Amino acid sequence: MSNVTFLSGEKIPLEMHKIRMVQKINLLPNEERLKSMKEAGFNTFLLRNRDVFLDMLTDSGVNAMSENQYAAMMQADDSYAGSETFYRLESVLQDIFKMKHFLPAHQGRACEHIISQALVKPGSTVLMNYHFTTTKAHIALMGGNVEEIICDEGLKIESDAPFKGDVDIDKLNEAINRLGKEKIAFMRIEAGTNLVGGQPVSMGNMREVSEICRKNNIPVVYDASLLSDNLYFIKVRDPKYKNVDIKEITREIASFMDIIYFSARKLGSARGGGILVSDDMLFNKMRELIPLFEGFLTYGGMSVREMEALAVGLTETMDINVISQTPIFIEALSDELAAKGVPVVTPAGGLGCHVDAKQFCSHIPQTEYPAGALAAALFIASGVRSMERGTLSEERNEDGNDRLAEMELIRLALPKRVFTLSQTKYAADRLAWLFNNRHLIGGLKFVKEPKVLRFFFGRLEAIGSWPDVLAEQFRKDFGDSL
Ligand code: F0G
Repeated sequence: MSNVTFLSGEKIPLEMHKIRMVQKINLLPNEERLKSMKEAGFNTFLLRNRDVFLDMLTDSGVNAMSENQYAAMMQADDSYAGSETFYRLESVLQDIFKMKHFLPAHQGRACEHIISQALVKPGSTVLMNYHFTTTKAHIALMGGNVEEIICDEGLKIESDAPFKGDVDIDKLNEAINRLGKEKIAFMRIEAGTNLVGGQPVSMGNMREVSEICRKNNIPVVYDASLLSDNLYFIKVRDPKYKNVDIKEITREIASFMDIIYFSARKLGSARGGGILVSDDMLFNKMRELIPLFEGFLTYGGMSVREMEALAVGLTETMDINVISQTPIFIEALSDELAAKGVPVVTPAGGLGCHVDAKQFCSHIPQTEYPAGALAAALFIASGVRSMERGTLSEERNEDGNDRLAEMELIRLALPKRVFTLSQTKYAADRLAWLFNNRHLIGGLKFVKEPKVLRFFFGRLEAIGSWPDVLAEQFRKDFGDSL
């Protein structure tokens, strides 16, 4: 694929594209990074992008688009109803997934809203390999419960299991027996399990889960937002699929699912989202909600230009040289960090490189948000914006105490085809410096805490004056270098 080995034996990820449009970015001096972190309430979501050097918060809506995607945007058929662009997108999706119906929506969480409205009854349970923040919030809004049945390996930081996103089949059978199949709204499988380090799900596991659920009349819903990385991992980690075409792999996955939905801010490197379904009854149930919440059935909240870009982006996702780019860069970054002693999730997954803040900041209790603190410290040390994926991203229990996350991670997302090897090396170097100075990092506490999805807007402050001490040490060690 696109990893190459140099004469020296060094293996590097090689870009299979050239860059013909660029955006200038600024690396602010350390004092200014400290100031803007304080102004952002120690929450990387609240930073101004102009103050950020490498934006590794997410890949959502910030993947690089191809020249063909941009060209397609110019040919969009602008119309409220019956747009040709919609039919083009629909036929691309039908061809790739071999499912009958497509419902457009403005992004992934909008699909989750529609699916939850249609399928979740108060008191029912949604089983899943692992939750995603917005998914859980929409199920809870409908009075449903979420139960995670990921395999034990999935929650281990270090492992050599190739498919850590797999569902634990014993836990699935046990949950069906305990809850009763009529109490289970649906089984959700998330491709490239986001919150446990972008870990893939194996084909064999999807097949088995689907067989059990179909026997019990439980719909299987597939969150395909992180499909492209998962496809790559099936091809390179499962010897049975080494010579199988990406489109064939995709169709086989789809054959196990009753509903597929996706965020097109990720899948297809565009914007928007959508739901695929073959069953007419399920389709009709969801269809009536689209004009109410999203827009008319031939745009669903997306602009026609986004739909054109998506149709091309989805077609390009079937190319292994396109979809291998992100995972090989993530692997290179993870390997480099691991070689410097920084604790990372292994094997490297998709979406981004995941650093274990529990080990990195073992001196900070979970109630003082070690992953949030590490994300803030990394920005001060480098201008790199990462994302907390730990206790801060959870909601409080009924008793008002923090629900302690199973994993305390920071994610250095690698938006598709955006950062170069030297930029990822820079991030690794500054993170390694931080690791050597980790005793200087302290905890955080909330100053303003929203009730729902608090990580988006919450404001925090440092416990003690550790950010100033850390910044001072940085200036001592790096002198004039930013
Ligand atoms: N499902 C998964 C697995 C996701 O990763 C996301 C978004 C969504 C659903 C929701 O999609 O943002 O289009 O509404 N993940 C982004 C992230 C936000 O940064 O990981 P959306």
